[in-house]
Amino acid sequence: MHPYQIMPPLSPKEYNALKADIKANGVLVAIEFDEHGNVLDGHHRLKACQELGIVDYPRVVRAGLNEEEKLAHAQAVNMMRRQLSQKQRRIFIGEQLKKTPEYSNLFIAKMLGVTDKTVNTVRRKMEANSEIPKIDERRSADGTSRGRPVSVYNPNEKAKRILTQPQVVERMQKEDWSNPAYTRAKINQESKAIRKNVAIPLSEADCKLLCADIQGGLPEIPDESVDVIITDPPYALKYIPLYRHLSHLAARVLKPGGSLLCMGGGAHFPKVVETLNDSALLFHWMLCFITTRTAAPLHWLKVSSHIKPIFWLTKGRYNGDLVSDLIHAPPMKDDKDYHEWGQSVEAFTQLVERFTDPGQVILDPFVGGGTTAVAAINKSRRFIGADIDQKCIEITRNRIYNLSPKSS
Ligand SMILES: C[S@@+](CC[C@H](N)C(=O)[O-])C[C@H]1O[C@@H](n2cnc3c(N)ncnc32)[C@H](O)[C@@H]1O
Repeated sequence: MHPYQIMPPLSPKEYNALKADIKANGVLVAIEFDEHGNVLDGHHRLKACQELGIVDYPRVVRAGLNEEEKLAHAQAVNMMRRQLSQKQRRIFIGEQLKKTPEYSNLFIAKMLGVTDKTVNTVRRKMEANSEIPKIDERRSADGTSRGRPVSVYNPNEKAKRILTQPQVVERMQKEDWSNPAYTRAKINQESKAIRKNVAIPLSEADCKLLCADIQGGLPEIPDESVDVIITDPPYALKYIPLYRHLSHLAARVLKPGGSLLCMGGGAHFPKVVETLNDSALLFHWMLCFITTRTAAPLHWLKVSSHIKPIFWLTKGRYNGDLVSDLIHAPPMKDDKDYHEWGQSVEAFTQLVERFTDPGQVILDPFVGGGTTAVAAINKSRRFIGADIDQKCIEITRNRIYNLSPKSS
């Protein structure tokens, strides 16, 4: 192959067609040479002319180009002239990247007459498949070396501010991202996931179970000692007064900024909200737990329900993370093995992860079969559970005893 013949040779069929065309119509596109007579573009046309004995063909001499510029020119005119599919274009970009992974995307884009975005897409795929090395210092067209460029299209004041924050530029360089806000959100998301999933060893003292009626106020639990209450009281109308006790308990034992997350039946929604609002707690929001279990038919209301509301109140201003208000968890086959109203561990785990960090204290004063306890302890949160029914306490105790060594 000639030094500047970068594209693969034409197939015999393609070549013969070209030759026949030249014989019939002459050379329509000029053959390009450098000042030393090397062909930059038109190897096949020249070969056909030589074979046909044509000497009078159009020619262009491009003088003064260095080796890289000649190569780039040859590639660019070929890419532009040949009707390449997107796939073929990407193959050529890939071939170039294999040869010169150290060239910047822009450099290669100029060489091949494509956009640097396309080069970047091909590069990232090849890096991910280890077809080319990841190179942080890339060579630009002017021959200088620099770290991966962080290109932000027309940054506004906010984007400029984000760019000054720790890790943002480094991460954008590493991933070839161009959106500072997205990068910062990703960094925050990852550090939050790490923070939420640190496994800390729990001892027996980190899990307390009390057989007690909430109406007694659970005096064993010290004031302002609980980070979050996650609970699921009975829903029937006759139990609604218990929500008042729950609200007063929460107002006493929650730390400032802490949250009460209370499941409740939709049928008595206004009464539940009114009763929970009885203390100094502030109504904050409502979460929705969607379960894919077959709908529960509420015949007297003519409603086929797929959702469970979770009322969210706070003690003073909420001081936690930004959280989604949607819980979507499939039912698990053993949900009802521990209590006839047993909830999904998966759903309660989502609540635990969203609203607390490892080591924080969660209270469930209607612990039932221990769903909240399992979710909390599995995620290294301290736990206090209470229930009026001694059987529920025993079931919960056994259930968490069997969880893992750290919860024994
Ligand atoms: C809906 S169940 C909780 C189910 C639990 N979330 C689970 O997944 O297994 C409600 C629980 O509240 C308890 N309970 C009812 N009245 C109570 C009261 N006055 N004080 C404390 N617990 C009570 C019941 O014994 C029952 O176990």
